[in-house]
Amino acid sequence: MKKIISIKSISLLIALLSPILLYKDLHSSEQTKHYELSQFISPETCGGCHTQIYEQWQGSMHNLSSDDIIFNEIANAGLVGLNAKDEIEEAEHCQTCHTPVGYITGFPRKTSDDRTKIAPIAKQGIQCDYCHSITGAYSIYNAQFNYSPGNGEDDPGVKRGPFKDSDSDYHKSEFSKFHTKSELCGTCHDVKHITSGVWLETTYQEWKQSIYNKQGVQCQDCHMYQRPEYPSTGSTKRVKNPGTAAEGSVERDHIFTHYFVGGNMTIPAQSKEISKMAEERLKHSVDIKIDSQVEVKQQHKADGKNIKSQNSEENRIIIRITNNGAGHEIPTGVSNIRQVWLKVIVKDSKGDVIYKTGVLDEKGYLPPNTIIYSTIFGDGKGNRVDNLAKAREIISDRRLKPMQERVEKIDIGDFQGKITVEASLLYSGLPQNVADSIKGLNGMKIPVVVMKDVKQVVER
Ligand code: HEC
Ligand code: HEC
Ligand code: HEC
Ligand code: HEC
Ligand code: HEC
Repeated sequence: MKKIISIKSISLLIALLSPILLYKDLHSSEQTKHYELSQFISPETCGGCHTQIYEQWQGSMHNLSSDDIIFNEIANAGLVGLNAKDEIEEAEHCQTCHTPVGYITGFPRKTSDDRTKIAPIAKQGIQCDYCHSITGAYSIYNAQFNYSPGNGEDDPGVKRGPFKDSDSDYHKSEFSKFHTKSELCGTCHDVKHITSGVWLETTYQEWKQSIYNKQGVQCQDCHMYQRPEYPSTGSTKRVKNPGTAAEGSVERDHIFTHYFVGGNMTIPAQSKEISKMAEERLKHSVDIKIDSQVEVKQQHKADGKNIKSQNSEENRIIIRITNNGAGHEIPTGVSNIRQVWLKVIVKDSKGDVIYKTGVLDEKGYLPPNTIIYSTIFGDGKGNRVDNLAKAREIISDRRLKPMQERVEKIDIGDFQGKITVEASLLYSGLPQNVADSIKGLNGMKIPVVVMKDVKQVVER
């Protein structure tokens, strides 16, 4: 009797475990599963019918993700001077998301692979047939997708998208809930160091913790509604874009746009239209308010030796900043290289500047005491690292969380009468000193966008 029970319980255990085992198996088989390059159809073929969508995507950072000079030079520089095996592994891991069709079809697998050997279709970055062949994901980070592509132009297979009644003579269509949700985007827009486990990019997690998730506002609702003059952020209306998805197909009340606008305005190959939309987007991202009174704080400094004490005053201007436009922190993504900072200029009643911070010097560099919103990574011993392959910890993260007020108190010293405070929040896709080290940018001056500026008369 005892024996039977134990056999029973063993088989029960196996029965309970088998879905887990199966699941594990799926994991490893998907990670090593190989697709053929010939299975993927070029964006130009899709663009033959989906003309507008193709034109929007063509100038986007998704098309440019593999050829992007900033990405390539930073990735190549990241390979130099590494000794630790785990750091090298991470530094070699960049193509997974930046050249995804190449990566899943076998070349390039590594950052150091010869770029001249990359097939033309793979160089077209994050493209139509890649996204529309995705069937789901098994972990929402590091591009851990499942795919089901067709077999090339003559047998295009199923294209997955937002419509339940879509009909095309060319390819089969299927409704995919996954494509309507943030998880599709988040599977690439959350990046984890493959050996140290440090989160390098967390746009999806930031969104998940935000009010937008609770309200059901997906990445697509802000990023695939934007078109010229419709920034479609959290602080604007997100107006529908009626039209047709393909030449001559049925009219629909919303066609998702494919510009994928972020903050990037630096890549020369990016379309002018998209740079302009990036500016429109950034200008609808934040709000700033300045209190009309300074906060006076008495400081009591006691000098231990002379048993004398001294009273002094701090006059603090109070600036309140709210990220009211982005569904994630500002900046997000590669927030170690994005530059968002507070510029403040205080003038006395005569118009003379009595205090300033965040003013770029003639080279375009920021002074050291600037209030910057960014993430700083460390080597695990508290030392800052710029090469993220070496990241073993986050030293500080001072970014602006969605819909949360950030209060900055700045001591401006003594003053008489009324003062005028000008405060602005600025954005630059790349610090000028980093840009100056990137050969392909040819000494380009990185555009700086004033996200918001305000002026306020302040008194004591
Ligand atoms: C980064 C992934 C991605 C890429 C690259 C991409 N799409 Fe899409 N596409 C989507 C998503 C997501 C939707 C649906 C959004 C939703 O329902 O919320 C969509 C919707 C569509 C639709 C349905 C009509 C519409 O726009 O709503 C068509 C057709 C389409 N895409 C074609 C293309 C073509 C052609 C290309 C290449 C030029 C392309 N897509 C590139 C993700 C992508
Ligand atoms: C010969 C013309 C033609 C070509 C080429 C073509 N499509 Fe389509 N596609 C259509 C038509 C027509 C529709 C239906 C549009 C509608 O339902 O509003 C469609 C619908 C879609 C949809 C929506 C599916 C859904 O259920 O939501 C997606 C996604 C899509 N195509 C992607 C692609 C991709 C990716 C390529 C290239 C690999 C491509 N198409 C090539 C004509 C074409
Ligand atoms: C295959 C991985 C992948 C998927 C899926 C993906 N992205 Fe991206 N996305 C990237 C990469 C990589 C870049 C950066 C390219 C570069 O700058 O070189 C990028 C860039 C962007 C940018 C431009 C950022 C800037 O600074 O201007 C936006 C916006 C964006 N993605 C939004 C989305 C949205 C929304 C979705 C889902 C509909 C999505 N992405 C799906 C990998 C992906
Ligand atoms: C409520 C609207 C909203 C939602 C939802 C939203 N975004 Fe954004 N996104 C913005 C705004 C506004 C900006 C410009 C400010 C900035 O750069 O952060 C932006 C910028 C970006 C950038 C460029 C960041 C940079 O500075 O380089 C990326 C990448 C991006 N979003 C991806 C995503 C992804 C992925 C999701 C979903 C997980 C998402 N966004 C959800 C509004 C939104
Ligand atoms: C899991 C996906 C993923 C992997 C792996 C990945 N990236 Fe990215 N990368 C992204 C996304 C998403 C963005 C867009 C975020 C943004 O614009 O802020 C991006 C943007 C960038 C940018 C900004 C480009 C520009 O034009 O401003 C650089 C630089 C970059 N990545 C470098 C790297 C390097 C170096 C590696 C390898 C060590 C790497 N990435 C690996 C997803 C990935």
